[in-house]
Amino acid sequence: MSIHMALAKGRIAKTVMTYLQKSGYEFPTYSEDSRKLIFEDVGLTIKVTLVKSPDVAVYVERGAADIGVVGEDVLIEECSGADVYEILDLGIGCCRMAVAGIAGKKVDMTKRITVGTKYPRIARQYFENNHHSVDIIKLNGSVELAPIVGLSDVIVDIVETGNTLRANGLDVLQYFMDFSARMICNTVSFKLKIDEIQQLIHVIKRNNAEA
Ligand code: PRP
Ligand code: MG
Repeated sequence: MSIHMALAKGRIAKTVMTYLQKSGYEFPTYSEDSRKLIFEDVGLTIKVTLVKSPDVAVYVERGAADIGVVGEDVLIEECSGADVYEILDLGIGCCRMAVAGIAGKKVDMTKRITVGTKYPRIARQYFENNHHSVDIIKLNGSVELAPIVGLSDVIVDIVETGNTLRANGLDVLQYFMDFSARMICNTVSFKLKIDEIQQLIHVIKRNNAEA
C-alpha cells in the first residue's frame, strides 16, 4: 500500500527528502529548487506533497495525507485542536522561541510594549505568564523588520541558527521554549497503514543516528 506524506515546505521538507533519498527512495522529479509540489518514488511506495506548514495538520486530519511532518511550534500555535496522532519527535528542525529586540537597545519591560510575531498565541501566553502587559501585532513573516522600522518594540519568533537575527541587527532578550519537527498521523491511516508508517519511522531514526 502506498503512503502519502505531507511535508512542511522549507527546511523540514529538505531534510526529510534527503533522508528518504539516502535510504534508497528515488524521486526522479524532485529537486530542491523545483516548483513542483507532489512527488512519487519510483517504487510507488511513497507520495510526498509539499504544503505550507499550518496546512500539514489540515491535510492529515481530513485524510488527504496519511502522515505529515511539521514543526511543533506550528502545531502548538495553529493546530492545537486537530484530531491527529503525534507519533514521532524527529529530532530535526530544532529551534527555540525567543523574544528579540534591536541589539544594544534597552527595552523597558515595566511599560506596555508592542510585540510583532507570527505566533500570537504563544507570545500572549508567555507575556501573560510573566505578567507583562503587551500589544501583540500578528505578522505573517519577516518579523525581524518590525522593531527596525518602529512597528513594534520587540519580536517573538523562532531562532534556529540565529543568522536572521544577526543579519538584521537584532539580539535575543530571552529564550523561552524549545521545539522540534513532529510526525503526525491520520487516525484511520494509523490502523490501516501501520507497517508503512513504521518503515518510515525506521528510515528517519536510522538517518538521525547516522547524522
Ligand atoms: C524563520 C523564522 C526566523 C528564521 C530563523 O523565518 O521566522 O526568521 O527562520 O532561522 P535562523 O535562526 O536560522 O535564521 P522563515 O525563513 O521561515 O521566513 P518567514 O519568517 O518570513 O516566514
Ligand atoms: Mg522569519
